[in-house]
Amino acid sequence: MKNKFYPKTFERGYIGNLEVENRAIRMPMGTELGNPDGSPSWASLKAYAEAADGGTGIVFMDNAGVTQFHHVGLSLASDNYIGPMSVLAKTIKQHGAIPGLQIVHPGRDAAFVRGDDLISSSRIQWEPWYENGGAVPRELTIEEIHDFVGYFGDCALRAQTAGFEIIDVHAACGVLLSNFLSPRNNTRNDMYGGSLHNRARFLLEVIRDIKKKCPNLPLAIRLSGIDFEPGGITVEETCEVAKMCEAAGADAINITWGSHAEVINAAGLLSKHGANHVEAAKMIKDAVSIPTMLCGGIYSPEIGEKLLEDGVCDFIGIGKPALADPMWAKKAAEGRPEDIRPCIGCGVGCHDRGMLSGGVVQCAVNAALYKFDEPVYPQAEVPKKVIIIGAGPAGCEAAITAKKCGHDVTIYEKRKIGGVLKEATVSDSKEDLGHLITYYETQLKKEGIEVIYEEATAGTVAAGGFDVAIVACGATVRNLNIDGQDDPSVVYAMDFLDNDCKSDADRVVVVGGGIVGAETALILAEEQGKDVTITTRSPEFFVPGVMGIAYMVRLGMAGVTIKPSTQLVAVKDGKPMFAGPRGLETLDVDQTIISSGFVPAFNQFRAQIEEKCEDVRVIGIGDCKASRMVMDAVHEGYIAGCNL
Ligand SMILES: Cc1cc2nc3c(=O)[nH]c(=O)nc-3n(C[C@H](O)[C@H](O)[C@H](O)COP(=O)(O)O)c2cc1C
Ligand code: SF4
Repeated sequence: MKNKFYPKTFERGYIGNLEVENRAIRMPMGTELGNPDGSPSWASLKAYAEAADGGTGIVFMDNAGVTQFHHVGLSLASDNYIGPMSVLAKTIKQHGAIPGLQIVHPGRDAAFVRGDDLISSSRIQWEPWYENGGAVPRELTIEEIHDFVGYFGDCALRAQTAGFEIIDVHAACGVLLSNFLSPRNNTRNDMYGGSLHNRARFLLEVIRDIKKKCPNLPLAIRLSGIDFEPGGITVEETCEVAKMCEAAGADAINITWGSHAEVINAAGLLSKHGANHVEAAKMIKDAVSIPTMLCGGIYSPEIGEKLLEDGVCDFIGIGKPALADPMWAKKAAEGRPEDIRPCIGCGVGCHDRGMLSGGVVQCAVNAALYKFDEPVYPQAEVPKKVIIIGAGPAGCEAAITAKKCGHDVTIYEKRKIGGVLKEATVSDSKEDLGHLITYYETQLKKEGIEVIYEEATAGTVAAGGFDVAIVACGATVRNLNIDGQDDPSVVYAMDFLDNDCKSDADRVVVVGGGIVGAETALILAEEQGKDVTITTRSPEFFVPGVMGIAYMVRLGMAGVTIKPSTQLVAVKDGKPMFAGPRGLETLDVDQTIISSGFVPAFNQFRAQIEEKCEDVRVIGIGDCKASRMVMDAVHEGYIAGCNL
């Protein structure tokens, strides 16, 4: 039956001899839920079941190592793993999807997944990693390459025996097979290095070995369309490699982008809303006659449908959006895109506090992800009357959660739903954050939660007869109180963002290097073409994690100058004066925009409420306790809502 909402996405498709119910595929994404020996855990099973319930035709999850090395993924390095892995395959199947498995050796990037077997085509490390203590990989001998070809083939056979119905060979993003494909990382002068034909030889031998051992097992090859390493893999070469893979027997090309070393592209953190690198993806599709899968930035079903309509790919890959909402495809099929909890492309839960921190993968906007030992929306034994003060992400999440748990919830909001997210979404590149606000607006309505657009005080709490007050009122802008800040050339960043980012200046200094400062600088430089400098009091521009790397790259590309260890002391005759490493300095700019951080408001508010209403339990969440990331706000809101 034709799906009336997204007909292309929910059209049947084929990969080799495999009939796939629809065109959405859950992309391989490590969960870090496996046991230390590489076998799946109880939580892995739960995660695979949930993923398969999510409605994509095929489910890939963790990758499995072809050899036994210590790393964070699963293993199929010996026959001992066939039993445990078969339970995963069965689980996916029983929950309605085709079980797929990615097989891999992480090669040069073993350290990225805390592996202990650093091998590559050549003794070349990604320089920033090397400078941070990363070991140089060992160069595989020709004999070892031949052994590895067999390991991949044997592993595929085990996967087939375990019940997986499609295999994806990881040859992208800096793993072993991509180390050979890359002209940057492969400087060999034997038959596995030099020409593209030689660099692709290892991968092609792997394909042939798998096809020899499992002739009927559909085989996808994951390639980075462009790896974005300097002197690395280009789309033109990927087109040629894709053709060679097809000729060697591959049944599909699974296109992704970037490399782990250049994580911001692999994580899609540099791009604006929408699918990444569409033209390059189309070039690869046009180069082959086997189907292509494409992922990267397909955050909404509309984006995926359009890619399929435009013939950019044959299958759409859902990665991070399936962490934000494991039911992504199911909700799309039911024509409920507004109920899809949107990925905001932050990289905080999945990368920074997930894979890169050694913990289980998390999601900033989905606090319940992979928490299978806790009930989702536990029903209240005694429903409470709850006031939520503030409708930012913390307040909205707390309200929706509390309502789903059976409580009676009212929100007070003095401005607008979204809180400071409204200012945060002003920049084009933050469109995805805006989708989170829209999601919350919709869900508040659907849950029938009353939002009263008034400023709530302790008196409001006392008069309303509430049992619980959840304070989510955010923080107030820190006033620097410096001489000259009333000059017309000076504006606070939140006012600038609130006022449609209007600026008549040509040269602007942004004081403060956090997220708000970085976003303000990018709007001015990228979107308005101004000459922008950022000053920070600290010795370094500071936004943590992969988001910080993405900001550094974008600020660099936009030509923004960063002046660390530089503190604004006064503004005189419209010119800001700074104390910096070289003493006092006046910057010749036309405008000074101050992004000086926020002052948490919780303690004061709690004291006022407790003074007026002794019986009310007061809980603080989000920025009103300390100014942090969206993830902290959402997770604290969820926890508060579940625990009333
Ligand atoms: C937490 C996490 C783990 C990932 N693990 C893998 C992996 O094991 N193998 C792989 O090929 N890609 C992996 N990826 C990359 C995704 O498959 C996908 O290519 C990438 O996230 C871009 O697609 P998206 O914008 O839909 O997220 C991972 C991504 C994330 C966020
Ligand atoms: S942590 Fe951020 S980027 Fe990662 S899946 Fe969740 S919302 Fe998306």
